[in-house]
Amino acid sequence: MHYDNTMNQDTLKKQAAEAALQYVQEDTIVGVGTGSTVNFFIDSLASMKGRIEGAVSSSEASTQRMKDLGIPVFELNSVGDIPLYVDGADESNAYLQLIKGGGAALTREKIVAAAAQKFVCIADESKLVGILGKFPLPVEVIPMARSYVARQLVKLGGTPEWREGCTTDNGNLILDVHNMEIMEPIKIERAINDIAGVVTVGLFAQRPADVLILGSKTGPKITTKP
Ligand code: 5RP
Repeated sequence: MHYDNTMNQDTLKKQAAEAALQYVQEDTIVGVGTGSTVNFFIDSLASMKGRIEGAVSSSEASTQRMKDLGIPVFELNSVGDIPLYVDGADESNAYLQLIKGGGAALTREKIVAAAAQKFVCIADESKLVGILGKFPLPVEVIPMARSYVARQLVKLGGTPEWREGCTTDNGNLILDVHNMEIMEPIKIERAINDIAGVVTVGLFAQRPADVLILGSKTGPKITTKP
């Protein structure tokens, strides 16, 4: 690939996605995330479809894209643990702790990440931050708990905003929490998960990524969890 200053965000996402192919082992099932960066990964994975067993998907959107490209998609319940999960992120810190859920797929993403031996996160370099929380933190909630959960999130220091018109693949709602400077990601992840009515918080701190691949103007930058 030719690297220069004119590379746009999509080119950098594609670069990271293609670099993730090196982690895919033949004859295995690959966990696949959701989002525009992952869409590039799915397109690349299609070139290997005869050499992998198939995929486990984290969303209806990714499932559809893979099926359209002829990649077999399996239920997580029928495959057990998987060697690899590849997904994007809205933010990553230097410890590879992530904010995810911009595409509302956070719950299934967290489940597939938990079931994977290795989590490779792919993004363009703008997603790397010092402190998590500039990107509003997505929280999936049971519909009847929306208002109660929002009040508890205010007590934790955030400003929750209902993502109106968005229903997750699990039939739930999303609150995006603004104004959170997340100094202690594991503590905040636990505190939000403990609120009754929360299905999942889009903080991936207890189970961070193992590898972060950032598309950059000088080529893919690969970091392994410290
Ligand atoms: C979806 C996600 C995505 O991984 C995240 O929003 C990044 O998306 P993109 O690759 O489009 O920037 O968590 O729920």
